[in-house]
Amino acid sequence: MLDEIGFSAAAKWLVDGFSDRSKIAVSLDIPTDLKLPRELELTLFRVLQEGLTNVHRHSGSNRAEVVVAVKSGAIVMTLRDYGKGMPETVLQNFKTSGAPSGVGFGGMRGRIADMDGTLDLESPEQGALLRVTVPLAKNILLAAVSSSAPSPVGTQSRSGSEQSSASSPSSGLHSRDEVAQ
Ligand SMILES: Nc1ncnc2c1ncn2[C@@H]1O[C@H](COP(=O)(O)OP(=O)(O)O)[C@@H](O)[C@H]1O
Ligand SMILES: [Mg+2]
Repeated sequence: MLDEIGFSAAAKWLVDGFSDRSKIAVSLDIPTDLKLPRELELTLFRVLQEGLTNVHRHSGSNRAEVVVAVKSGAIVMTLRDYGKGMPETVLQNFKTSGAPSGVGFGGMRGRIADMDGTLDLESPEQGALLRVTVPLAKNILLAAVSSSAPSPVGTQSRSGSEQSSASSPSSGLHSRDEVAQ
């Protein structure tokens, strides 16, 4: 399904279905025009799924917020609830050992690490906050740039163009080609 409708629509579908079933109101703030590699979309989708399940199972919150944005070359997804918050032991374990205290966070971390990303858990004044940050790797940007630019990559850059980073080595580009479609 992700393949066909993309992450933005899939996230909306997931959030709407979750809200219906759980009666937890969830707001979703996400760009409509996200173009992400398939593996990254799948990772974000699974993390959102697990995170929402956690909100339902553990938080006691009647509302949650999901925000997805691209910031400084990374995709950042946050899930926040207004429930009882993460137990201190869970936060502590998460910080110190890196070892998961439950299957869920462990699985999430593994997936995200595979994409050179990070998973953060925070305890705001009320509730819990989960944040996933995954850098949009150079080769992904490169794929997007080269598909939209008429001139070959690495030719004289226009004044001050930040696209000059496109002249860096393109190892791995071939495996991301489908991203640029
Ligand atoms: N949104 C949340 N609010 C409060 N506690 C949470 C939340 N999400 C997770 N937790 C706590 O973190 C623990 C670990 O979560 P997780 O790794 O997903 O394992 P599991 O859900 O299988 O218990 C949970 O058992 C719960 O105590
Ligand atoms: Mg869980």
